[in-house]
Amino acid sequence: MTENRTRTHGRVLVRPAHTGDREAFLDLRSSSGRFLTRWEPSAGKDSKGRDHDEVLFERMFDLDGGRRKPLLVVRKEDEKPLGVININEISRGVFQNCALGWWIGREHAGQGYMHEGLAATLSHVFLDLGLHRAEANIQPENTPSTSLAERVGMVLEGRSERYLKIRGRWRDHERWAITIETWRRSGQKGD
Ligand SMILES: CC(C)(COP(=O)(O)OP(=O)(O)OC[C@H]1O[C@@H](n2cnc3c(N)ncnc32)[C@H](O)[C@@H]1OP(=O)(O)O)[C@@H](O)C(=O)NCCC(=O)NCCS
Repeated sequence: MTENRTRTHGRVLVRPAHTGDREAFLDLRSSSGRFLTRWEPSAGKDSKGRDHDEVLFERMFDLDGGRRKPLLVVRKEDEKPLGVININEISRGVFQNCALGWWIGREHAGQGYMHEGLAATLSHVFLDLGLHRAEANIQPENTPSTSLAERVGMVLEGRSERYLKIRGRWRDHERWAITIETWRRSGQKGD
């Protein structure tokens, strides 16, 4: 298994963050505003008074003993970070599963970069991490996100009522998922 392999697809690559990405990361966040925060659990300062975006950058280095792997989506042409795909809740044993979360800076949205980043991430999940299934839990009204899941071959499995607390309210989510078998059949692979 090649857990540290960098995967690429089309115009982007996905890789762990470096401390040198801090400024670009914080710029992406601050220039995106509500485009991102309306879909996220919380915004503003945390209970210790720390800036939310700083905390999110710190979390890029939190691997939770192998249960998380945060990745930056980076444009190959100029090495610019565009967004993030978090591989969360990595479960081994009989499950071999993970839960994906994603966001892209507002100025880069709608150009197909996330589709490429997610394709590269799925190659990493199945070929390098050796997992069997990846899921994503998405609010049904987040159509950019549900259409992204659908375009990479994820399948709508069902609806979970009051599943995650987002901005202070328990909200229904759709569960989208893809197994390695479905992914192989779809013929989509990173470069
Ligand atoms: C969800 C999110 C990551 C999707 O990003 P995105 O930029 O819209 O995704 P893509 O890069 O795949 O681009 C999507 C659109 O660009 C189009 N596109 C694809 N390739 C393209 C290309 N080469 N050039 C131009 N446009 C292209 C797609 O057809 C698609 O349009 P559609 O949604 O009408 O089908 C983004 O909207 C986001 O960060 N939202 C806020 C945070 C969030 O919701 N996170 C997820 C919580 S579950």
